Amino acid sequence: MTTIETQRVIIVGAGLGALYAALKLAPRPVLVISPETLGEGASSAWAQGGVAAAMAKGDTPEAHALDTKYAGAGTVDAEVARLVTAEARRHILDLTDLGTPFDRDASGGYVMSREAAHSTARVVRVKGDQAGREIMQTLIAEVRQTPSVQVAEGVIASGLEVEGGKVTGVWVERAHEPSGRTLVRAPAVLLAGGGSGGLFAVTTNPPRIRGQVIGMAARAGARIADPEFMQFHPTAIATGEDPAPLATEALRGEGAILINNRGERFMLAVHELAELAPRDIVARAVYLERQAGREPALDTRAVLGDEVLTRFPAVAEACKRAGIDPVSQPIPVAAAAHYHMGGVDTDHEGRASLDNLWVCGEASSTGLHGANRLASNGLLEALVYARICALGIGKALGAPAPADLVTLSFPPGTEAIDEAAVACLRHAMTDGVGVVRDAEGLTDTLRVIAGIEAEATSESMRNMTATATLIAAAALRRRESRGGHYRSDYPQADPAQAERTHMTLAEALEIRTRALEET
Ligand code: SIN
Repeated sequence: MTTIETQRVIIVGAGLGALYAALKLAPRPVLVISPETLGEGASSAWAQGGVAAAMAKGDTPEAHALDTKYAGAGTVDAEVARLVTAEARRHILDLTDLGTPFDRDASGGYVMSREAAHSTARVVRVKGDQAGREIMQTLIAEVRQTPSVQVAEGVIASGLEVEGGKVTGVWVERAHEPSGRTLVRAPAVLLAGGGSGGLFAVTTNPPRIRGQVIGMAARAGARIADPEFMQFHPTAIATGEDPAPLATEALRGEGAILINNRGERFMLAVHELAELAPRDIVARAVYLERQAGREPALDTRAVLGDEVLTRFPAVAEACKRAGIDPVSQPIPVAAAAHYHMGGVDTDHEGRASLDNLWVCGEASSTGLHGANRLASNGLLEALVYARICALGIGKALGAPAPADLVTLSFPPGTEAIDEAAVACLRHAMTDGVGVVRDAEGLTDTLRVIAGIEAEATSESMRNMTATATLIAAAALRRRESRGGHYRSDYPQADPAQAERTHMTLAEALEIRTRALEET
């Protein structure tokens, strides 16, 4: 076993929350564990919408918090919603100071996009649909010139070391070739390694984002919150690409409509807000159209014409790859796993249930999103909690001391992911724990997960099956429908169940064992 000691704070992940926290911790030395070269492989860089913030005249954080609560379908933590929406402006101004080229109008104000379930245009954006990419580029440039930040690229975290309920280090291994594991002992650990969407076969998430970070924390004993609440995006571009490229909700904010192959605008019959109804409602409608063979599609032709090519370059590029011309053709769409509202349970200061462990971004579950995240609140939450975690870590550790650079070395080993097993897991998740769920499908999926887990030969695979178990077990236990969790055998919301879920992996495994014994 190789063990390395460092005085650097370890940050697991390299998306927006991770890099922003690294900057907020400066000059405290940190080690960022990044599976890819910075900027590649992080969900944040793929975000098209932008950051929700009450920047427009007449808008207020209170109105933003109210929309967040309404979209969250009864389980949003009101205090978290108040805090996050009140902090939004500070972070937009901070990112602006760092050089993020937000879109501006003629008088210098921020251009705001409208997205579903927002009562007003409230999403600041960059170059149309390039917000995630551009904000990440800004942060990467800053990180590259911040001496306190060391980035270990091509390395993944696969476990947490815990002693007496306190996290004392992180197990790491090479990301791109089989290797043994090295334990890096550190004074504090911040998990900021993304969500779980890639555990599903149809997803908008990058390939690395498969619930490993949540699984790693759960296996170490951390409490998980709301794992059953997965958000499915209604308009992933359905051309067989994996991951599925996104057609941003901002297109519907501009007036794009959803039609089927009979030319019907089907959302009109589903919700008074039609295409701008809360995301779970639109996703379910798109899913049901596709299941019925009516080939749902997003039609931008009338409202955008050829402006779609210049104002939404990422969408235009994805269409081009698939041979679709959005100027003259509707864009085929499907519902795809997009954002995990669940994650490592954190308190209002970003602390997990294990000592010395902080979590921000999609890997965490703060209570902001409830059962259904309001569009573009994801990047906002990552920014707000990255700062909160950095402040908390600073307070816990006291004055920063200098630290040497960490030289990572790995023992020989054969930790390799079984890609066939991953594919099997992802298909089982989409089939049984997808947009529409029932007891039979959830139990079947738990059986598949248990089988894959029994054969697993790598820690990363065990992290994935842990998260998959938590999602499916919590979905089986919640006998109602709410937000992103829809049970065809319990299609109504039950006011008695309007509470967040808190669950350990041991509890999820008990549910799994019982379900498999009963069938
Ligand atoms: C989108 O642009 O549609 C996605 C934004 C988000 O998921 O918040």
